[in-house]
Amino acid sequence: MHSFQELHAKFETFFAEHRFPEFPATLYQPCSYLLNMGGKRIRPVLCLMSHELFEEIDGNAMNTAMALELFHNFTLMHDDIMDNSPLRRGKTTVHEKYGTATAILSGDVMNIFAYEHLNKINSQHIHSVIQLFNKTAIQICEGQQLDMDYEKQQFVTMDQYLQMITLKTSVLLGASMKLGAMLGGATDGCSRILYDFGKSLGLAFQLMDDFLDVYGDSSKTGKQIGGDILSNKKTFLSTKAYELADTSEREEFISLLSTSEMDKVKDAVSFYERKKIREITLEEINHYSDRAFELLEKAPILSKRKIHLKELAESLLNREY
Ligand code: IPE
Ligand code: IPE
Ligand code: MG
Ligand code: MG
Ligand code: MG
Repeated sequence: MHSFQELHAKFETFFAEHRFPEFPATLYQPCSYLLNMGGKRIRPVLCLMSHELFEEIDGNAMNTAMALELFHNFTLMHDDIMDNSPLRRGKTTVHEKYGTATAILSGDVMNIFAYEHLNKINSQHIHSVIQLFNKTAIQICEGQQLDMDYEKQQFVTMDQYLQMITLKTSVLLGASMKLGAMLGGATDGCSRILYDFGKSLGLAFQLMDDFLDVYGDSSKTGKQIGGDILSNKKTFLSTKAYELADTSEREEFISLLSTSEMDKVKDAVSFYERKKIREITLEEINHYSDRAFELLEKAPILSKRKIHLKELAESLLNREY
């Protein structure tokens, strides 16, 4: 059993041994650029940790962890185009640095490399692994499309918001857990509970991502502050603020969101302050994390084996980046 730091280091070693081809550099350099600028590596570590609940880490688990991180980075490269984001992990985004056409193609090729790693799995579970990976990838596309559709709407309901983030973010954390468990030989029942744990953790994780967009420190998050407000994203914060507002406040909120870029973020933040959105968001993050921890308790695994997962989940929900 290993801690987050130990598994992170193991993953980085494997990762360093699997570099992209050299040629053409114009295709692969942007891939290495994004992957080498860090990232928390949560998905591969969740997969490895989940695998270790049942079985020691092997090549199958490592290749799956690698596939998850490559796939995640592919979605980030394209997400930054969709969201028009200038910064990622403290550096200029790939599409800003190398151009949008390159960011599309470099993202595509990273996705294909993800499947190259899945194809190295030598296990009776290979078909179930690919099936879950594909299902998750499709759900992420659905979530990303809803995320963009909702930019054009003035508001969404809390249910619509939760459905959108379940698809765009949570299912990948759930799948990371389940893939590790399946390959480790977990029973169906147990891997389902671990999937649900990852999914609940994923909801709390996306709420924290929304929170940090407003209340984070750009030098820590590595992203532009207020980016979600500028692009009219539906976040937990904006959805809750709208839900709690009366008719005239709703009009006020909608009109401040259509003002010039200079004032928009500042005005939205003071609206959030009036509605106590900061406190409410932190409470809701606790609610989803409590649910995640309850699910983890339920998993029929010796409780001392769950210590590292608990630590990781806690650190994710108290993060500043
Ligand atoms: C960012 O994911 C995108 C979301 C789903 C919120 P992470 O916060 O895991 O990004 P990195 O990989 O650590 O940079
Ligand atoms: C990202 O959500 C979800 C995926 C990339 C699939 P966000 O758009 O909120 O992520 P950040 O804030 O840019 O990292
Ligand atoms: Mg996005
Ligand atoms: Mg984004
Ligand atoms: Mg975000």
